[in-house]
Amino acid sequence: MKLFIDTANVAEIAEAASWGILDGVTTNPSLVAKEGRPYRELLAEICRIVAGPVSAEVLATEADAMEREGRELAGIAENVVVKLPITKDGLRVCTRFAEEGIPTNLTLCFSPAQALLVAKAGATYVSPFVGRLDDSGHDGMQLVREMVQIYDAYEFATQVLVASVRHPQHVVEATLAGADVATVPFKILEQLFHHPLTEIGIQRFLADYRAARDVH
Ligand code: G3P
Repeated sequence: MKLFIDTANVAEIAEAASWGILDGVTTNPSLVAKEGRPYRELLAEICRIVAGPVSAEVLATEADAMEREGRELAGIAENVVVKLPITKDGLRVCTRFAEEGIPTNLTLCFSPAQALLVAKAGATYVSPFVGRLDDSGHDGMQLVREMVQIYDAYEFATQVLVASVRHPQHVVEATLAGADVATVPFKILEQLFHHPLTEIGIQRFLADYRAARDVH
């Protein structure tokens, strides 16, 4: 199970990388816009911090323009993964990139049918948005379970990258469902560390040690 961070914030990425658990990064246009920095410059800096895959999304919507933009993004660093929307144009470009070995992340996946198409187009990753499905009254994690079942049954190589993660339980459920990756916002990565018994345990060990030292 790989853990990516879902952010374009360099400080968050550097902090999470220092914990030794970070396998990659995902960004999207909304996250990049929040940073207020030139896209390509920001992407290059992120790729210097993290050696693992860094997803960068194209803004174009038509296949030839998407392909040009994707190639440009892929040229910024060796670890760039080109993020494409699940549309006919996105799948056309995905197929071309798969033939050339350019890694892709097909994004905004909301159904098993879309997941099937994406795998057949040779995507490296596919991103089911579990939080947005939950928000709309559906069960996001059920989609992940169905995707894993389909991919296992037909031995598709596409990796299931669970996105739109809203709480630590999404990460646990994604792991139990057999997803390959969860991409997690910084705040939720931090929450994964916490358990009240761990914090109480540390305090108790320290208190016992100090008390014994005062006696001897
Ligand atoms: O990066 C894609 C995805 O994780 C976005 O999540 O919270 O905007 O639904 P959210």
